[in-house]
Formats: sequence, structure tokens, C-alpha cells
Amino acid sequence: MAGGGPTTTDSGIHSVEDARRRARRAVPRPVFDYIDGGADDEVTMGENVRAFRQITFRPRMAVGPVDPDTATTLLGTPLSLPVVLGPAGLVRVMHPDGAAGVARAAADAGTISVLSTVAGTSLEDVAATATGPMWFQLYAPGGPSQSDELVDRARQARYTGIVVTVDTAALGNRERDVRHGVVPPLRLTPTGALRLGTKFAARPRWLLGMARAEAGARRRGASAPTTAGPTATGVVMAASPFSWGDVAAIRRRWPGTLVVKGVLGAGDARLAVEAGADAVVVSNHGGRQLDGAPATLRVLPSVVDAVAGRAAVLLDGGVRRGSDVVKALAVGADAVMIGRAYLYGLAACGRPGVQRVVEILRAEMVRTLALMGCPSVGALDRSWVDLPAGWETAAGGPPPRRDAAAGASAPEPRD
Ligand code: FNR
Repeated sequence: MAGGGPTTTDSGIHSVEDARRRARRAVPRPVFDYIDGGADDEVTMGENVRAFRQITFRPRMAVGPVDPDTATTLLGTPLSLPVVLGPAGLVRVMHPDGAAGVARAAADAGTISVLSTVAGTSLEDVAATATGPMWFQLYAPGGPSQSDELVDRARQARYTGIVVTVDTAALGNRERDVRHGVVPPLRLTPTGALRLGTKFAARPRWLLGMARAEAGARRRGASAPTTAGPTATGVVMAASPFSWGDVAAIRRRWPGTLVVKGVLGAGDARLAVEAGADAVVVSNHGGRQLDGAPATLRVLPSVVDAVAGRAAVLLDGGVRRGSDVVKALAVGADAVMIGRAYLYGLAACGRPGVQRVVEILRAEMVRTLALMGCPSVGALDRSWVDLPAGWETAAGGPPPRRDAAAGASAPEPRD
């Protein structure tokens, strides 16, 4: 296990909620709240989870023995299950295994992981230990020159995909963080640091693991975080506004898979495809940005229909069970990304915790498919689910519009 650290095992974790409870006990409260919390009143965060409960299955009985297959291929990459480990900032403080542990867990499970620009570890260091396909999630608070530099570094380090997150034009108001003394733009105040220090001291095992990991990283001569990691000024993250013109420019520079993360409606999905995206992620950042944004599952049908097979469609937000993955796929997603689900596992007990969560989701998917009488994830379509009234094509999302900042390279939305 990279970095040593707490030796807690993954036994006793039988669901994502178990992992969440274990995480709460393992890390200091500010770290747990950073993972667990959302923006403002956390309405969108809760709606993401609730939306899954509004879809019911239409199982088929007496189909004989079923041995469901969860394997799929996403944009040319074979996956043992359609679950990608999404990008997350500051994974370095969740457990000493950090981003490298997440990447290894994903590779061992037969899937892709996405490294965040602000994970707290350099993209080169993570790539150096990676044993499976990795995507790099791009923030560029410094504008196009920083974006170009990071894209080139990701190419050099052999990432196969770039994920451009387009929902962070400003930072969401995560009040749990603010209450712990971390104020937007996620800058640590001196009193905040003092308060945090006291809370960190309440988890001595975590503190010891972190100290060992930092010492180990120094010995190995680890590079500085990719960008905007914890710095001398204490700034750990900043807004990263992109335009569709920027996305088109990244497309011209980046030869690999291009993913646009953070669309919430048909119009923006079309703009992403026309800017050159190979995939869109229907995402509201797990309810951490715009509170009041729609639940992702709610707008998935309209995005799937608007994209019409021209790009892959992924969904994230609120996935806590294998049955949630099955529902998203039945509605039309090609795969899901998970965030908190695996981060709880990481915070609870490092790389084995991440692996455990993915295996729980896999087992739940297999059982759900078997109970539905469905032979494989590839066989799922809308005939397997009942959607609440009004969720079909016309559902949700902002109307298509012309983006004033898009410039000449962004085409007109067609509707
Ligand atoms: C995130 N998310 C995120 N997204 C992104 O593009 N870059 C980032 O650095 C981060 N950082 C981050 C930190 C933490 C602690 C969380 C929980 C989330 C959003 C993430 O990729 C994903 O969109 C959501 O986590 C999906 O919602 P669920 O699965 O957490 O409900």
C-alpha cells in the first residue's frame, strides 16, 4: 500500500453507507465534511440521491438461469464494469494512499480513474505508478496558457483522456468548509488553521499516517502538486471558467479522448459535442456547485436524446448502489462516474476501501440484473424501467442558447 498509514481493514464494510460511517470515524471532521458536504442548503446534493428512488424496475420473471455480465467498452477502453472513478480534489488528505492508491484500485478493478488537477499530487507522479488507463481532469484558473501547459503535460505522461470540468465558473458555497475555517476561494485563515489543527489532533492515527506519508514523499523527491495544491499562500482551489471556445481549443490541442463534465441539459450537451467532445458527463458536481441545479438522473433522458449517439454519455451524482448504476444505464448512460462512494472507502481505509466499494457496487449490479432477468449491462434500455411522468425527452435542463463567449469556433446550437 502506497505511503503506509492506518492499517484499518475493509472488513465490516457491506455497503457504501457502511464506508461512509467508517470514514466519519477515521478522518478529522473537516476532512469528512469536505467529502460529504455540498453547496448552500445541499438541496441538489440530496436530490441526486432521491432521483434514483423515483425510478422503478420492470423485471422479467422466469427467464431461466441468468449470469449477468457487467463488462463494457467505453470509448474504446474495455471496462470490467461501467463505473469510472471520478475526479476529486485533495484526495491526498483523505488517506496516505492518496491519488496513487485510487488509481491502483481502479486498475485492479478493471476500470478508469480520473485524476483531478487539484488532487494534491503531481500528474506525473500518479502516472508513474499507474497500472491502468487514466484520465486527467482539467481546471485552468490561470486561463488558456495554463490549460495548454497541463494538456501537454498530460499527453507527455500518457493519460488517455482529458476531462474538462465546465461547471466551476465560480466556486460553490460549501458552508461546512466555511464553518471549519476554510473560506472561499478555499483559503485557510490563521484562525481557521488553528481550529483545523485542533480537529486534526482529534484523529491521531490519521495525523500519524499523514506525517509518515509526507516524510515518504519528501524522501522519494515527489514533485510539487500539479497546480493549485496546498501552497504557501494557502490557496487550494480557484474558479476555472471555460468557454465553449476554450473547449474547442483544447480539442485541437489534445489528440486523445475529450470528455466534458458538468452539462445539465440538451442545449449544452449539443454545444459540447459540437466543440469536439467524445463524451459528456451529466453532472452537477455532486451538488457542490449550483444549489438548485436539477438532479442529474432527472435530466439524463434529455441529454441522451440530444446527443443521439454522437458522443458517449456518462452520469454522476448520487450513485450509492449497484442498482443506481443499472438505472442510469437503462435510462441511456454508457457509464457512470462515482465520487463520494469511493472517497468514503478511501477515507475509511485507503486503497482496500476503494476496492471494496467498487466490488460492492459490482456485486449489487450483478444481483440486480439477475433479479430483473437481464443478461448484461449491454441489454439495458428504457424498457427495463418506469420513469416518473415528465422525465422523458422534453425533461429538464436550460434551453439551448448561443454562448456569447464562444467565439467563431463554437457552432450555433441546433434545435
Ligand atoms: C468532487 N468533484 C470534483 N469534480 C471535478 O471535476 N474536479 C474536482 O477536483 C472535484 N473535486 C471533488 C471533491 C470531492 C470531495 C467531491 C465529493 C467531489 C465532483 C466529482 O467529480 C463528482 O462530480 C461528484 O462527486 C459526483 O457526485 P457523488 O457521486 O459524489 O454524489
